[in-house]
Amino acid sequence: MRKPIIAGNWKMYKTLPESVAYVHELAPRLAPFTGVERVICPTYIALAGVADALRGTELKVGAQSVHWEAQGAFTSQISPAMLQGLVEYVIIGHSECRAYLGETDETVNKKVKAALAYALKPIVAVGESLQQNEAGQTASVIGGQIRAALEGVDAANMANIVLAYEPIWAIGTGKNASGAVAQSVIGGTIRATLIDLYGDAVAQTVRIQYGGSVKPENMHEYMSQPDIDGALVGGASLKTNDFAALIEAAAKAKGV
Ligand code: PGA
Repeated sequence: MRKPIIAGNWKMYKTLPESVAYVHELAPRLAPFTGVERVICPTYIALAGVADALRGTELKVGAQSVHWEAQGAFTSQISPAMLQGLVEYVIIGHSECRAYLGETDETVNKKVKAALAYALKPIVAVGESLQQNEAGQTASVIGGQIRAALEGVDAANMANIVLAYEPIWAIGTGKNASGAVAQSVIGGTIRATLIDLYGDAVAQTVRIQYGGSVKPENMHEYMSQPDIDGALVGGASLKTNDFAALIEAAAKAKGV
């Protein structure tokens, strides 16, 4: 069985003291839910503080992006070598990075390969725009993003990769895709693409999250879908009560 994985993407929220105080409060509340993998992705400046605060707990830490070079003249960037040992996961290809920071399918692929080379586990985000969705292009856009992100990644590495389907029109808008729609993209398009690339046995082991306006109220709807293995959560991960409720709902829906 695929272990459910819920990641909180804090985006550009919380100062360092706020981040550390938050995880001190959260960690004991999440301790009982060992059947769910729990990941916090703070801003770069809070990563070391949060990693220290969570040492000895089962909560994991992720970064929100990474550069593909080990070092160099890349002002403002953070390399995979710098994240090694500090975080277990790294989000790559978030739609906000694609929209505002020049992320492309090509840079996503470079970052995925660089992260894997440094033993970091990528959470690769894909998603279609409202316009693409309304034009009936969801399957071709998502299939294309998955193929591009995974170009040159071998089957053995798929155990270290999590995929996240995040329809852009559902992020931070309060407009979520229904559980059935998310299941059809995740179970249909994404897992079908993985079967095509790596064969059924490998494809069935890859964890795929849904993301976009996930809240305690709709968590059960997503987590009760057979192909949805977790969630990448923005807004609702910023409040301890909401994040704890999401983890509890995931554990209940998956019976873990
Ligand atoms: P949201 O963000 O939960 O606030 O919609 C999700 C994400 O961007 O990962």
